[in-house]
Amino acid sequence: MNIALLGFGTIGSGVYELINLNKGKFESNFTDLATQKSRPAITKILERDITKDLGDSVGVIVTDPKEILEDDSIGIVIALMGGMDFEYEMIKACLKAGKHVVTANKAVISEYFAELQALAKENGVVLRYEASVGGGIPIIGTLKEEMRINRVTEIKGILNGTTNFILSKMTEEMAGFEDTLALAQSIGFAEADPTADVEGYDVSRKLSILSSMAYEGIVRDEDVYKRGITDIGAMDIEMTKSLGYVVKFLGHSILDGKRDVYTTVEPVLFKAASIMSNVNSEFNIISITGDIIGELQFYGKGAGKDATANAVVGDVLYILNIVGEQNLPRPLRLNRKLNKLGTGIFKGKYYLRANLNDKESLDQVLSALETVASRKTVIVNDNHVYVVTSVIAANEFNAMAEKLRETVPEFFYARIYE
Ligand code: NDP
Ligand code: HSE
Repeated sequence: MNIALLGFGTIGSGVYELINLNKGKFESNFTDLATQKSRPAITKILERDITKDLGDSVGVIVTDPKEILEDDSIGIVIALMGGMDFEYEMIKACLKAGKHVVTANKAVISEYFAELQALAKENGVVLRYEASVGGGIPIIGTLKEEMRINRVTEIKGILNGTTNFILSKMTEEMAGFEDTLALAQSIGFAEADPTADVEGYDVSRKLSILSSMAYEGIVRDEDVYKRGITDIGAMDIEMTKSLGYVVKFLGHSILDGKRDVYTTVEPVLFKAASIMSNVNSEFNIISITGDIIGELQFYGKGAGKDATANAVVGDVLYILNIVGEQNLPRPLRLNRKLNKLGTGIFKGKYYLRANLNDKESLDQVLSALETVASRKTVIVNDNHVYVVTSVIAANEFNAMAEKLRETVPEFFYARIYE
């Protein structure tokens, strides 16, 4: 069976190296085959810019999608272009053409999860998306396995390599936000549009995939409350460190009862000694809680060429192993009607830093906080005010902060996770 690749960027080139150039042990999976002719290989790669340096793959580049869709020798298509519309259309067309699909595209999977799963079933093919969450961490397969016995009620984790890389470098080396983001982009961790990373869309898409799977009903990206990390400054890293905390970017969802789902993606402060605080650089950690097993945590590289390509090729091998079997794996249940209730269940003490750009700012910050927090610690230093509050419901604090932004635009806040 031949394989086609859509996109030859960071992950596409990694997959090509593992499959066609046999970096790692891909070939050893086929050593029992009588002839090397049967060894699956990438025979076509869709790219839009043929002037790009494509190394050893030059012989197989195509620019017209039909060359893949209408090629009956291609049984598996690996979709690694990123973006939304074109990749979605291509995945649909491939499934309709009876081709198995492997993708790392969380934007497409989170938006069209039920539709694409149904389309794969209708056409007797398999859709795999292990690399769409947690890069190299095998969380999709593991979650499916755990769900055979457990009712999963909570998912939380550091789910974005780029922002964890930025926060780690800011914490460990006092590096600047913009410089570190540029570094993450040059290494290949960031999305083509890194706004998705730093504003929380990438995490909320990953959280929506895991939550939909675990809670057996669709949780969309737009159902997830999200707040990015672009407001953070060096003074926040220093101040929170002196208070004994580390800033992390957390995705968290909870199923309460049978149908009530709460979700949030936001910067959170963890005690310096906690496990979460010690997950650094592009590494991710994902925790799932089941009613039988309790809490399980999975740790590994959440972004980057080799780790992600490893997960993609694992999906390819899975498909190659089941090809020809009568019964394809049963699709996930995704039709439970869920009540998506925002951040309603989350609460905690809050850390807030605001820039005091004029005489009124301090009063405005303190009066706004007065509406939600009766007790608080306040420090004023170098034209900044730092506040740590008593426990407040997330809904209330977020609403207060949104209103405060109208008069005091420059501030950063994070819930303290206890
Ligand atoms: P890149 O931007 O490095 O690669 C995408 C490639 O696809 C580029 O070569 C791009 O060409 C090509 N491409 C984009 N649109 C088209 C099109 N319309 N027609 C033909 N070719 C096209 O992205 P990554 O490899 O980093 O990511 C790929 C996917 O994997 C994304 O969905 C991403 O979210 C996901 N992912 C990425 C991880 C990572 O660590 N990077 C980890 C986990 C998942 P051009 O250069 O001309 O734009
Ligand atoms: N941009 C993503 C990240 C890639 O940084 O985590 C992995 O999904």
